[in-house]
Amino acid sequence: MTVSDLSHAPEALAHAPDGSVTFDGVDLAQLAAGHGTPTWVISAAQLRHNYMALHTALSARLPRPVIAYSMKANNNRTVVQTMAGLGAVLDCSSEHELALAVSAGVPAGRVIVNGNGKSRAYLTAAIRMGVWQINVDSIAEVGRIRSIARELGVSVPCAVRLKLSYTRLLQNDPSYERTLRVAEGKFGSSTQSGDAEAVVKAILAAEELEFVGLTHHAGFPGIRADYTAERQLMHQTLCAQEIVEFAHLLRRGMGVTVPRINLGGGFRSGGSVYLSTPGDGTDGEFRALPRPEEYAEAIAAGLAQADWDPIVQFETGGFQVGNAVLLLARVQDTKDVTHPRERRYVTLDCAMTMFTGRGLTRVGFPVIAVGHPPDAPVHPLPVELVGPTCAYDSIAEDLLLPDVREGDLVALLNHGAYCEVLSTQFNGFPRPAVVYLDGGDVRPARRRETLADVWERESAALDLWPGGGTA
Ligand SMILES: Cc1ncc(COP(=O)(O)O)c(C=O)c1O
Repeated sequence: MTVSDLSHAPEALAHAPDGSVTFDGVDLAQLAAGHGTPTWVISAAQLRHNYMALHTALSARLPRPVIAYSMKANNNRTVVQTMAGLGAVLDCSSEHELALAVSAGVPAGRVIVNGNGKSRAYLTAAIRMGVWQINVDSIAEVGRIRSIARELGVSVPCAVRLKLSYTRLLQNDPSYERTLRVAEGKFGSSTQSGDAEAVVKAILAAEELEFVGLTHHAGFPGIRADYTAERQLMHQTLCAQEIVEFAHLLRRGMGVTVPRINLGGGFRSGGSVYLSTPGDGTDGEFRALPRPEEYAEAIAAGLAQADWDPIVQFETGGFQVGNAVLLLARVQDTKDVTHPRERRYVTLDCAMTMFTGRGLTRVGFPVIAVGHPPDAPVHPLPVELVGPTCAYDSIAEDLLLPDVREGDLVALLNHGAYCEVLSTQFNGFPRPAVVYLDGGDVRPARRRETLADVWERESAALDLWPGGGTA
C-alpha cells in the first residue's frame, strides 16, 4: 500500500504540514476554487526541470545530442511551446500533430516526421513545409515520398526506421521476447530480412532523396510486472549497439556514413514507476527508474563502438511531461463496504475514461489528499478511487489515505504522458479543463468542455433540451 508514498513526488510539488499543497508555487485549493474540477494542471517549472536534466546528462556523455519532444505524449500547445522554447525539436506522428506543432510556432525545419503507413496527405504536407527529417517506415513509403518530392521539385531528408534483430538482447534476457512481439513488424524495416538495407539503397539511389540517418524506438517497458531499471538500461545499450553495427555494415557494403542516429524515446521522469494491476487484489509496488545520467551512460556505452561522430537524436515525450502534470479532482461520494471485502469506495468527479491510456498501461501513480497534513492518520479501510462512469472505472486501488470526505480535493500525480491525449466522453462526461502554471501565474490552457461540446457533431436539433445543452 505504497501509492500515497510521496518520496518521488515532482520537484515542483510541496505538501505543507498544514495540509495545503502547492504545484509550481500555486495553492491547489485556491486553483480548484477558481477553475473548478476536474482540471489538468501543468507545471512549467517541472517541464523545464525535466528537459534540462535530460539535456545536461546527455550533453555530458554524447558529443552532439538533439532532444526532440514527442508531442503524442501531450499535445497541449503550452507544452509544445515550452519545449520548443527550451530548444527541443518536435516529433510528430500525423499530419494533425504536424499542423498543431506549426500552428504553435514551431518552424517546420525543426520537426521530425514519424509514423507507419503515412498517408499521401501527411507526406505532402511535411514535404511542402520542409521538415527537418522524415523517418521512413517502408520501401513503399520511399516510392510515395519520391513521387511527391519530384512533383514539388524538392529534396527530402530521410532517415530509415529500423526493426532490429534484438539477437544480443534476447541472448541476455530471453523473457524480452514477449515485449518484442508487441506490434512485431508494424514499425520500421527489418535489419535481419534485408528490408532495411533495401530501403537505404532505394533512398541513396533516388536523386530527390537525401539519406540522413537511422532511427529506432525502444518503448518504455515499465508496463510489465517484471520491470527493472537495469533491464531497461540493458535494452537501451543493446539497441544502440545494434544500430552502430548496422551502420558499420552499411559503410562496408555501400560506402555510406550515417550522419544521424535517432534512438527514439521510452524514458520516464519522476524517480520511480508504480506498477499495479487494478482488480488483482494487490497494491502493486514502486520500482526505481533510471536517472537521466544512467540513461545517458547506457546510450553512450551502446554507441562506444561507433568510429565516426553522428548526431544522436532522441524523441522523448513521457520523460519531459510525465510528472509535470497532475489531475486535480474532487470527491463526490464515499461508500464503505464490507462485502466481498472491506474497503472504502471514493468516487471522484473524474473518470478513467478521461485518461484511458493510464488504464491501458496499468501504471499507477501517487495520490495526495489535499488539505490533509502529510502525517494525517490513515483511514482504517483501504481506499479504492473510482470514477462515476459505467466503465470499469477503478482509478487507483488499495490506497492508504486519510479520512477523505465529499468535497475534498485529491491530486493524482504523474498524469502528463498519454493521459489527456487518450481521453473520451464516455457516458457523456465533458472533458476537463487544462491550466498552465508558470512562476505563480495560472493560465487557462484549454477550456472545460460543456455538454454542447459533447453534442456538437449531432445533426438532430437540441431544442428539446432546456438551454440547448450549454450548461
Ligand atoms: C517512434 C516513437 N518515438 C518516440 C516516442 C515517444 O516515446 P516516450 O513518450 O516513451 O518517450 C514513441 C512513443 O510511442 C514512438 O513510437
